[in-house]
Amino acid sequence: MELEAIDDPDFRRLVDIAQHGPGSARRMISACVAALNGLISLITIAGVLAVLHPVLLPMLVLIAAPRGWGAMRVAQERYVSVMSWIEHVRASRLIGNLLTERTAAQEVRLHAVGAFLLSRYERMAESAEAEQERLASSKALTEWAASALSGLAMAATYGAMFWLITAGHMSLAVAGTAVIAVRTGSASLGGLVMNINQLHEESLYVRDHGRFLTQAGRRTLPVGGAPVPERVEEIVLDQVSYRYPDRDALALDGVSLTLPMGSVTAVVGENGSGKSTPMKILSGMLLPASGSLRWGEADLTGLDRAQVFARVGLLTQDFQRWPVTAAMNIRLGRPDHPATDDDLKPSVDYAVAGPVIAKLPDGLRSLLARMFRGAIELSGGEWQKVGLARTHWRSSTSEADGVLIVDEPTSALDPEAEIQAFDRIRRLAEHGTHDELIAARGRYAAMFGAQAAQYAPTATVPRPSAPTVSDQV
Ligand SMILES: Nc1ncnc2c1ncn2[C@@H]1O[C@H](COP(=O)(O)OP(=O)(O)O)[C@@H](O)[C@H]1O
Ligand SMILES: [Mg+2]
Repeated sequence: MELEAIDDPDFRRLVDIAQHGPGSARRMISACVAALNGLISLITIAGVLAVLHPVLLPMLVLIAAPRGWGAMRVAQERYVSVMSWIEHVRASRLIGNLLTERTAAQEVRLHAVGAFLLSRYERMAESAEAEQERLASSKALTEWAASALSGLAMAATYGAMFWLITAGHMSLAVAGTAVIAVRTGSASLGGLVMNINQLHEESLYVRDHGRFLTQAGRRTLPVGGAPVPERVEEIVLDQVSYRYPDRDALALDGVSLTLPMGSVTAVVGENGSGKSTPMKILSGMLLPASGSLRWGEADLTGLDRAQVFARVGLLTQDFQRWPVTAAMNIRLGRPDHPATDDDLKPSVDYAVAGPVIAKLPDGLRSLLARMFRGAIELSGGEWQKVGLARTHWRSSTSEADGVLIVDEPTSALDPEAEIQAFDRIRRLAEHGTHDELIAARGRYAAMFGAQAAQYAPTATVPRPSAPTVSDQV
């Protein structure tokens, strides 16, 4: 999916609803088989009844029809209720999880959030219960009416048979057979109606699942496209606007930004002013609503997105803490790249994560997932080093020029560690052989040029252009 789909509450709702689909599809198969069985036995009984007396057949339909109507109505109502309560169910499940989640555990206790959440949960459970009660009484009423109508039809059938016997149109022996046939027939017709009805109800969920698949198909990340050029001079956001799906206001309104490769650009602004959003745009995760994004000459829309992603490194404050081993946590910076522990060592050293790893019982093989037994939890600062090692692993395994996005990664660190971290992050920005770096004409080339110029024999040698570093902090 495009990242925007994940941000879109309507789509998330559809994802929730679609969860019912596969189970329903499976249940439809057994309902289909049962309906087929019911149909066969009904045809047999209908044959018997038609032979016994032609009026018995329509009477049988009259007996079963109200039950069919009732079952249909109940199913519809249940479906409508499930649809309108789906967010409620999700919210109360969320509250339930918050009460037991590790990340919330401290505030749940210290801030007495536990009691607060519990009272919310109770209120939500009560209203859900009230809805179930409403459904149940409505179901009871419908079924009562259906049974009454069906009972009337049954009485009419027996009345008609009584009349047929007394009028001499039907022998007692035939009537006895007919009573059994009517009873069996109405039971199997009732069963058939139930099965067809279940098919109908399940099909509503399957249809929603289909709707989800269509939407999802429309919102998948495109595969293929033009390759991203080996050398990209600059990345340009041109008059880019973007609005998050559930927001009225634009998050970005006509933003233009040129990022020369090999330079460092700092984006400064208040919280929520729109710093992270343009980063998601320039890395191809979000598509601009208007305006354009260019990687070199190429517009992003024509480029192979997977290749664009492959060129981007990301280190954020809330980077993913994968519930896997320490080694895998680093490797997941580029999972398709094979790695032994030795291969990961430079990344560990780079992030000064060595002491953190050394403290773990099984070193890099230690599981960092507190939900499993025997796993270990790291502190915020320790995790940050693992995150930095991952970012290093990602950029050290990439062959082409790329962008490194560093989004407030050090907010969890003390000032000294922050300076150290930024010092290291800076060194991530460029790597390659001398020739590659000169060809990239970035900071390395500019500095090399400046240094070389000092040894220039005459002043006629052109001075190197100003470094392209634009530290706008
Ligand atoms: N996933 C999202 N869904 C909806 N609105 C968002 C989302 N992410 C950010 N926003 C909104 O977009 C605006 C810009 O956000 P962002 O770029 O993250 O700001 P910054 O990084 O400068 O703090 C804010 O008003 C924020 O509330
Ligand atoms: Mg941000």
